[in-house]
Amino acid sequence: MLMDQHLLIVGGTSGIGLALAEAAVDEGARVTIAGRDAGRLEEAVLAIGGDVRGESVDVSDEDSIKALFARVGPIDHLIATPGFDHSPALVAEADAAVVEKLFRTKFLGQYLLAKHAVSQLSESGSITLTSGVLSTRPAAGFAALASVNAGIEALGRTLALELSPRRVNVVSPGVIDTGKRFAHLEAAERTTKLQSTFGDALPVKRVGLPQDVAQAYLFAMQNPFLTGQTLTVDGGNSVR
Ligand SMILES: NC(=O)c1ccc[n+]([C@@H]2O[C@H](COP(=O)([O-])OP(=O)(O)OC[C@H]3O[C@@H](n4cnc5c(N)ncnc54)[C@H](OP(=O)(O)O)[C@@H]3O)[C@@H](O)[C@H]2O)c1
Repeated sequence: MLMDQHLLIVGGTSGIGLALAEAAVDEGARVTIAGRDAGRLEEAVLAIGGDVRGESVDVSDEDSIKALFARVGPIDHLIATPGFDHSPALVAEADAAVVEKLFRTKFLGQYLLAKHAVSQLSESGSITLTSGVLSTRPAAGFAALASVNAGIEALGRTLALELSPRRVNVVSPGVIDTGKRFAHLEAAERTTKLQSTFGDALPVKRVGLPQDVAQAYLFAMQNPFLTGQTLTVDGGNSVR
């Protein structure tokens, strides 16, 4: 169903977005990946191969988003997976500038991507945003990210009404091994640490892979009766 469809994956140069880009190209889609770093874009385009091109964008800048859609032209599906690395902090000790940057990138970035996608998005197409399991399963030190994630889920439900008949859904990943956690450790030690810190406690007894989450975006894009929903892919984290 994705054959010859044009997908724009903002955040497609790394982690979950990159795994989705690879899976979508395998299904015959035309894929444009977007991110800030030119080197990462070039590397990802080479790694994915096939019908893929790279475009530069900074989602914390509305003009950059407008320019992206002007360059990319008509699309069938928009997928947003922008991330923002930050150290956890208790609310009582939080740096407001870090919190603001997180909201600006992950919340406002996806909000504005949806705003400017509309003029280019097929009426039979879809938008899939990204939240995270912290929205429903809190952890001390992650209040800002939990709030951003909950906001994205509310945004997705509202956009499903506002952009109808286009469909809008949200994917909420749990702990996914994109290579960044415990990156300072040697490979075998890192795997052991990931398993003992996160995997052992999950009902599925392992952490997730980017490919596990990619399948949820593929489903959200292709199921014509699915809109306004959040698909949680967390190995059971939210029910344990
Ligand atoms: N991995 C997990 O365990 C996990 C768990 C729950 C939720 N999530 C969520 O899932 C999404 C993807 O996570 P990930 O781990 O795959 O992240 P990642 O590997 O860090 O990839 C993030 C992508 O977003 C791009 N990006 C970051 N800031 C951007 C900006 N201002 N403008 C445009 N692009 C930007 C990055 O490229 P550039 O840096 O070059 O711009 C990169 O392509 C994130 O929203 C994350 O919060 C992840």
